[in-house]
Amino acid sequence: MASVTSLTASVHQRLADALAAALPEAGAADPLLRRSDRADYQANGILALAKKLKGNPRELATKVVDAIGADEVIQDIEVSGPGFLNLTLSDAAITRNLAARAADPARLGVPFAEAPGTTVIDYAQPNVAKEMHVGHLRSAVIGDAVVRMLEFTGEQVVRRHHIGDWGTQFGMLIQYLIEHPGELAATAESVAVEAGQASEEAGEQAMSSLNRLYKASRALFDSDEEFKTRARRRVVDLQAGDPETLAMWQRFVDESKVYFYSVFNKLDMEIHDADVVGESGYNAMLAETCRLLEESGVAVRSEGALCVFFDDVKGPDGQPVPLIVRKSDGGFGYAATDLSAIRDRVFHLKADTLLYVVDARQSLHFKMVFETARRAGWLGEDVKAVQLAFGTVLGKDGKPFKTREGETVRLVDLLDEAVERATAVVREKDVKEQLTEGQIAERGAEVGIGAVKYADLSTSAARDYKFDLDQMVSLNGDTSVYLQYAYARIRSILRRAGEARPAAHPELALAPAERALGLHLDQFGEVASDAAAEYAPHKLAAYLYQTASLYTTFYDQCHVLSADNAPEVVENRLFLCDLTGRTLDRGMALLGIRTPEQL
Ligand code: ARG
Repeated sequence: MASVTSLTASVHQRLADALAAALPEAGAADPLLRRSDRADYQANGILALAKKLKGNPRELATKVVDAIGADEVIQDIEVSGPGFLNLTLSDAAITRNLAARAADPARLGVPFAEAPGTTVIDYAQPNVAKEMHVGHLRSAVIGDAVVRMLEFTGEQVVRRHHIGDWGTQFGMLIQYLIEHPGELAATAESVAVEAGQASEEAGEQAMSSLNRLYKASRALFDSDEEFKTRARRRVVDLQAGDPETLAMWQRFVDESKVYFYSVFNKLDMEIHDADVVGESGYNAMLAETCRLLEESGVAVRSEGALCVFFDDVKGPDGQPVPLIVRKSDGGFGYAATDLSAIRDRVFHLKADTLLYVVDARQSLHFKMVFETARRAGWLGEDVKAVQLAFGTVLGKDGKPFKTREGETVRLVDLLDEAVERATAVVREKDVKEQLTEGQIAERGAEVGIGAVKYADLSTSAARDYKFDLDQMVSLNGDTSVYLQYAYARIRSILRRAGEARPAAHPELALAPAERALGLHLDQFGEVASDAAAEYAPHKLAAYLYQTASLYTTFYDQCHVLSADNAPEVVENRLFLCDLTGRTLDRGMALLGIRTPEQL
């Protein structure tokens, strides 16, 4: 389908052309076009230009007005104030542009990026044999939205779930399992796991046996010196690739995946097993990574460890804090793995952008890792490496989110509670009792999970946010429920319209609320591409919230299915309803949030 140039973009182009024609000495100047309350748009660029050219801004503005003239798109253009331009578009142009969008159901006329690249995105990376917590929620939710937004722009996206599946803690776990073989039930869902699928029951079961095992082995490790020695020897076997040890380790990984996939399922998120390349996936590269760093002089030996130093990274005592790529005992750590992953992602996956959706508390780690990779020549000028760092999830008290007992909150419990609350809201709203129990449960999940995702996505990632379920499932305010209701109301009008069909009528004059809604809908593509380019789902969320608000105003001021309306007015308003609904639906889908047809 043909892509549609937004009115903003075409007016901007027209103005830029007129500027260049009227003031050739200005070079390529930006007219600085903004949406405005006074007219549809205001252009402020002439002020700065006049300063530069030492001219009178009002005179220059008048020249530009003469050069542009009015036509079928720009209905009115006038100089205002010290030298602004106020522009008003014709109603017909607005309706026509929207009609062109409506003719492209899949993309609403939004063009692909001009030069899409390949992004490898590292997100949704929980740790094996450990419970998932709210931090893992953020990485998963933000990462999933960014994947969808980037793919919508035409970007080639490779997903990497860098799960924590390696480390000395496995020595203890494996040794315990070898000595107590009955403790980890063989997973019956291995086939499903390959498809990234696992049921809720299986997930719960897997996690509870992993928890039990973890506690029991920890207790033994702390109390029994001989077990401790055997556990340490087991780490050596694991690192040496002993087949029996590796097979045991694999059981932990598989069992954990059953749990992870059940949680991602609950989050309504697709994770593919092939994209799960955990820390262990880079084991074969670690020695070479260290050798290359040492040979090139990027890393040096210090107190037996292989380290990279930075001028601007110092500890509280003023001493430099190095990035340790190999410990003095020869063990490789988190950094060696991340450096190897960079080599894989750049040279093998051919990424031109590396994106890491990881907690802001790991920012120093990534700063040092990226800098090391640059020095080593693995990250060239042409490769961008970005940590999309997110803030902490806080409780209602403004402190990091903990249970009353001070423990980290289990993600599953949170999600269950959100769904429960949302289900109550859906049930309450269903005053006429039109929904079946099954529908209530389904909608409850869509609303509850949507609420959790939206709360996370609607604040800028870098900021901390309060996890407040009351606010999240509220029908008023900037919540997904509000957006979902707006969508459902639109669908309901379209169903109630009977014989009348949505159809654009450019010959009709538009009411102010229709113009405001229409001009806003026309900007979907720009917002979606800016939000993707900046990895800023909150900008898309803000746009969608505004869409719903403008729709509410339109709906209050312009009756749609009124018997007093001429048939073409009904059709044109239905057309606006329909396009609003489709814009909300498309936009919410980019955030990974469902839009039920009926609530
Ligand atoms: N597993 C880590 C954690 O739970 C996050 C991994 C982030 N990704 C990376 N490439 N280091 O904190």
